[in-house]
Amino acid sequence: MKSTIIRIGLLALSILAISLLHYLTPLHLHYLHDIFQRFYYLPIILAAIWFGLRGGLICSLAVSIVYAPHILFQWGGGLTLEMEKYLEIVMYNVVGGITGLLSQRERERSIELEKTAHGLEESYNALRLQSERIITIEEQLRRAERLSTLGEMAAVLAHEIRNPLGSIRGTAEILRDDYQPGNPKFEFIEIQIKETDRLNHVVEDFLRMARPQAVEMRRCSLREELEMIVTLTGSDARDRHIKLVLEPFKGDALVRGDGEKLRQAFLNIIMNALQATPTDGNVIISHRQTASGEALYYEICFRDSGPGIDEETVQHIFEPFFTTKADGTGLGLAITKKIIEGHGGTLEVKSGIGAGTEVIVQLPVLAEGQEQ
Ligand SMILES: Nc1ncnc2c1ncn2[C@@H]1O[C@H](COP(=O)(O)OP(=O)(O)OP(=O)(O)O)[C@@H](O)[C@H]1O
Ligand SMILES: [Mg+2]
Repeated sequence: MKSTIIRIGLLALSILAISLLHYLTPLHLHYLHDIFQRFYYLPIILAAIWFGLRGGLICSLAVSIVYAPHILFQWGGGLTLEMEKYLEIVMYNVVGGITGLLSQRERERSIELEKTAHGLEESYNALRLQSERIITIEEQLRRAERLSTLGEMAAVLAHEIRNPLGSIRGTAEILRDDYQPGNPKFEFIEIQIKETDRLNHVVEDFLRMARPQAVEMRRCSLREELEMIVTLTGSDARDRHIKLVLEPFKGDALVRGDGEKLRQAFLNIIMNALQATPTDGNVIISHRQTASGEALYYEICFRDSGPGIDEETVQHIFEPFFTTKADGTGLGLAITKKIIEGHGGTLEVKSGIGAGTEVIVQLPVLAEGQEQ
């Protein structure tokens, strides 16, 4: 706006200056008048470039009006004598019109080009986003394929291991009966039984994950399930001198799910948090309701003050058998993810070295009328 006013002022000033030159220069210096006459093209062309057709025409008209009295009253105004000057006035208007028209077209074209460039940039960005998404999905598919083949093989293996394990345990128990506690052989057999139990536990865990299980989906209160798990893990937390807090619920936080499976998922997450948190640390479980599009979710956040997980490790923690613990199976989070996703929810981990860890579970809110 300010620059428009300055431009108009400049044009008016230059027209005024050129006209004054005409009106004040004696007529016998006609060669000077011939030069001044051409000066008018300058503001006319400028006005056409700056303001388009309308600007060019208004300026050439203004020049004609200011210049005409000079021809009429100072030069006498005879049509044949001053023919060349009248023609110049016509030329002013022709030049104003044509230059204005051309500059206007140019401007319209450049606006259109800009719009096309903008559209192209948007399409390019959308395309890039899509291709990134395709690459991620492809990667996930490849990994899933690898895991499923590996999983099938491992499931067969696990099944084959379980039966001999039962026999080993049984025979070890019989052998133990031959010795008294305190006898070194009794201790060895005890270790054998304990280790067999541990192995059996791993195999059971694995099979539970690999085998599609019948889920009992029914109305289920997240408040009740979480309270139960927190009570269950409370003594463990106290032994480790960790403050385990479940922020109070206002309602029941109802979802459709299998209570036992959800408890197992929450237990895995809380156990990980307790194992990672140092003495005098804390594990806080908070919750809120969120919406994603039309769907409503309960978001449960398990936050611990542990050492956190580096970026590279976070990429792998949901993979079966990934563990950084000497006695871990690496199945906890893999099972948990499967359970949560089986409930139409999502599981996400946010962490960084020194920043603690946040495990976020989202589960769909039980819809009204969806009681069973
Ligand atoms: N809250 C946490 N803080 C730091 N690291 C974590 C946390 N939760 C999980 N992890 C990391 O993710 C790995 C995988 O966890 P996951 O529960 O699947 O297996 P695990 O705990 O090692 O074994 P298991 O659960 O069978 O005892 C862990 O070994 C650990 O390195
Ligand atoms: Mg674990």
